Amino acid sequence: MNPSPLKVAVLASGRGSNLAALIAARDAGALPVEFVLVASDKASAGALRLAEAAGIRALALNPKDYPDRASFDRALFARVAASGAELLVLAGYMRVIDAEVVAGWEGRAINIHPSLLPKYPGLHTHRRCLEAGDTEHGASVHYVTAELDGGPVVAQARISVGTSDTETSLAERLLAEEHKLLTAVVGAIARGRLHWNGSALFDGQPLAGPLTLAQLS
Ligand code: GRF
Repeated sequence: MNPSPLKVAVLASGRGSNLAALIAARDAGALPVEFVLVASDKASAGALRLAEAAGIRALALNPKDYPDRASFDRALFARVAASGAELLVLAGYMRVIDAEVVAGWEGRAINIHPSLLPKYPGLHTHRRCLEAGDTEHGASVHYVTAELDGGPVVAQARISVGTSDTETSLAERLLAEEHKLLTAVVGAIARGRLHWNGSALFDGQPLAGPLTLAQLS
């Protein structure tokens, strides 16, 4: 167990249900973290309201105020750095981040993505899963690199796909697993079990494959 709570910043573009799960785990004493910032590219993001209600510093930067993607990303990540964050969690953050900016956070930024990567990077993962007739779906947590949803996958949670499943039913069922998976990964990093030294190590060993919730518990 690390002596002091891990300083965590979160980027979110939407409702923030993954953020809510992290805050709930922290409040239950199950996640040794201190949230130092929640930032968004959307001033209307529900995640910012959640942060404010939880007394966490909330920041919205408007991409329209910047001449290009890279300058927006540099400004946003400067604020993340200034917050003292030791870990950056992308939780429903819907922008592709400039490669140079991301490189500065190698091993210190993770993302939750609603598919069994490397399947279905990008958007509409539930629909693509159904259209492919997959019998299994899932969520992945990976370290963030310049490649969209392409960084090393550290953990995955799987669900079966039922014949009556729709995009909505699949998304809802998977979201519950995302919340558990992201919380478990942040907890493993906060407790010093999962860390990065050029590649991901768990309890000092290279990952043989994505960790499961059982391994992370
Ligand atoms: C989640 O499915 C997450 O995996 C994806 O965005 C969706 C919404 O996340 N990146 P949240 O409810 O805003 O946390």
